[in-house]
Amino acid sequence: MSLSPPEPAPTLSQLLAFYLEAGVDCALAEEPINRLADPDLVPAPTAREAPQTPVARPMPAAPLLSGLAEPPPAPDAAIASARELARTAPTLEELRALMEKFDGCALRSTATRLVFADGNPKSRVMFVGEAPGRDEDIEGLPFVGRSGKLLDRMIAAIGLDRSKVYIANVIPWRPPGNRTPTPQETLVCLPFIQRQIELVDPDLLVTLGNPSTQTLLGTREGIMRTRGRWFDYDTGTRVIRALPTFHPAYLLRSPSYKRMSWQDLRTIAKVLAK
Ligand code: URA
Repeated sequence: MSLSPPEPAPTLSQLLAFYLEAGVDCALAEEPINRLADPDLVPAPTAREAPQTPVARPMPAAPLLSGLAEPPPAPDAAIASARELARTAPTLEELRALMEKFDGCALRSTATRLVFADGNPKSRVMFVGEAPGRDEDIEGLPFVGRSGKLLDRMIAAIGLDRSKVYIANVIPWRPPGNRTPTPQETLVCLPFIQRQIELVDPDLLVTLGNPSTQTLLGTREGIMRTRGRWFDYDTGTRVIRALPTFHPAYLLRSPSYKRMSWQDLRTIAKVLAK
């Protein structure tokens, strides 16, 4: 029987490249944490086990990240708390302040900062995307990375810029490594974006891509079917016209859909011209 030689251990740069590929592109703490060496996380040996035999120490079920004082509240409590806070926010400024302090969504602990909104809160048109990415997390503003640059060009094509539109996301904290937000995270954040829409009170709501469209407009249909079609968005005090369109990140990957996106932009321009 011939044994193949053992694989050489990966170099540090290969390991980092592997992490990057897997979406791990941000550090959660300044220093690495050796959890096996943390006496608070690993129970000390009892008098009986102390001797010679090495014992596998159980890791805690969900080790706390350094800097996280408390685990986030239970899911239902977090949703109820988000609803209550959002409901009581009388202005956008107060909504932002409440969200800065809200600890019911674990994404807040891994993100660098809250990405609340950009643009003109008095605008007649509001664009809503899914969640901030790396660039947005660094700058604290939505749509400032590659897809944001395309969004800027899209709105410029109909004579608008960020001083004439309002832009936000369903999820205001970057999911680590840009992973898809979980349904639970979306449910916790939903009351905040709903209240933001209600406070901005635009004449036209444009949902960018599938997640935003499905979450805000309560449809399960995909963007290929929903884009360019009118929906009603009920804030509770008013019904707003809503138009789903492609997410700019999708257009970057599939530029052939830019033609349909242009039709949607012209629809938006026509409504705003009235
Ligand atoms: N994608 C989004 O959905 N939102 C952003 O802010 C950036 C990229």
